[in-house]
Amino acid sequence: MKFVLVSLALASAATLTTATSHELARVPVHRQAKRCTGTIASLDDVAAAVKCATVNIKSFTVPAGKTFELDLADGAVVNLQGDITFGSKSWAGPLMLIQGKDIRFNGGGHKLDRQGAKLWDALGSNGGVTKPKFFKVKASGVMDNFTLLNQPVQGFSVSNPAKLVMSNIVVDVRAGAKLGHNTDAFDISAAKDLTITKATIYNQDDCVAINDGDGITIQDSTCTGGHGISVGSIKSNKTVRNVLIKNNRIIDNDNGLRIKTYDAQTGASVSGVHYTGNVATGCKKYGVIIQQDYTNEGATGKTTVGVPISGVHFTGDTNTVSVASGAKRVYILCAKGSCSDFDFSNLKTSGGSAGSITNVSVKNYSL
Ligand SMILES: *[C@@H]1O[C@H](CO)[C@@H](O)[C@H](O)[C@H]1NC(C)=O
Ligand SMILES: *[C@@H]1O[C@H](CO)[C@@H](O)[C@H](O)[C@H]1NC(C)=O
Ligand SMILES: *[C@@H]1O[C@H](CO)[C@@H](O)[C@H](O)[C@H]1NC(C)=O
Repeated sequence: MKFVLVSLALASAATLTTATSHELARVPVHRQAKRCTGTIASLDDVAAAVKCATVNIKSFTVPAGKTFELDLADGAVVNLQGDITFGSKSWAGPLMLIQGKDIRFNGGGHKLDRQGAKLWDALGSNGGVTKPKFFKVKASGVMDNFTLLNQPVQGFSVSNPAKLVMSNIVVDVRAGAKLGHNTDAFDISAAKDLTITKATIYNQDDCVAINDGDGITIQDSTCTGGHGISVGSIKSNKTVRNVLIKNNRIIDNDNGLRIKTYDAQTGASVSGVHYTGNVATGCKKYGVIIQQDYTNEGATGKTTVGVPISGVHFTGDTNTVSVASGAKRVYILCAKGSCSDFDFSNLKTSGGSAGSITNVSVKNYSL
């Protein structure tokens, strides 16, 4: 038995030395915690503190241009005991990074504060100055009860290697209503068994964007003012499967519920997206939109069989979607033969105009 363990350890060490940094996120790194309590009150304290089973974080300011990186021991418990502020600088970020296996991050209701508007220029990640992404999460375990305040551009980038529950998290970019752009709250990629629950989000882009992953649940969350809950945008070699979007409230977003894929991609697919009990109100452009012609610069109106979308179900509890006047209730644009098994039996729509459905037969819904 001992021998087996040693050779496994050697094998994984060998994998680690040859892995690229992107692959490292997927390799579970096992690090035994020391029985100590580490305290972090500046970046200088981090290296010693993260060896401990318990890590307490006091209020402090992370200097501009530095990442606050928590590379935790297995099973570590982190207690945020004050607000963290981040200095302002034009760079790519991330401002914060957390890695670890079966960790617990207790936010204690505190704030991670990027201190407002210094880099907002209405161009987001499409132009203007380079803006740092805020919080990269590569951990498994639980993270709860804190606020991400005023990210310059995208908020959370989540790539969890195993089960992770993120609950009671607030992402508040209300101060960016005029100049904030691409302030996605949760960007999800290479995720596995992820639940986001009871999140409260005010922003100017996707509330949630699911780009790549398997087993993703978004539930009991409220999205205000952004672009809605999205799967995508999907490009080549990205797979999204087994998504549950449940009991969320989507208030005054451009879109309510959306699936967006790029035209002419290879090796990508979306399968098994289940919507139940969601309520979207005041959708400004579309209530439900599923499009295979997405680009960041705007829809092309042209589709090819590139990213098949299968198993899109509005079933279970009623999904209620109401759109503003001038908006469309349902818009679906598929390439012929590229969308299948759409069942909208528990979708109720109202307001605006009906919209259109192209190249897919949708069970139990008519425009
Ligand atoms: C967040 O933590 C604070 C401080 O411990 C606590 O008072 C509050 O109830 C917590 N909120 C949630 C939703 O857990
Ligand atoms: C997708 O994966 C294939 C096979 O690994 C690779 O040849 C191709 O370059 C990838 N495409 C993109 C856009 O990453
Ligand atoms: C729908 O399918 C038809 C037949 O293949 C195709 O000609 C048309 O371009 C498709 N519509 C769109 C918008 O892709």
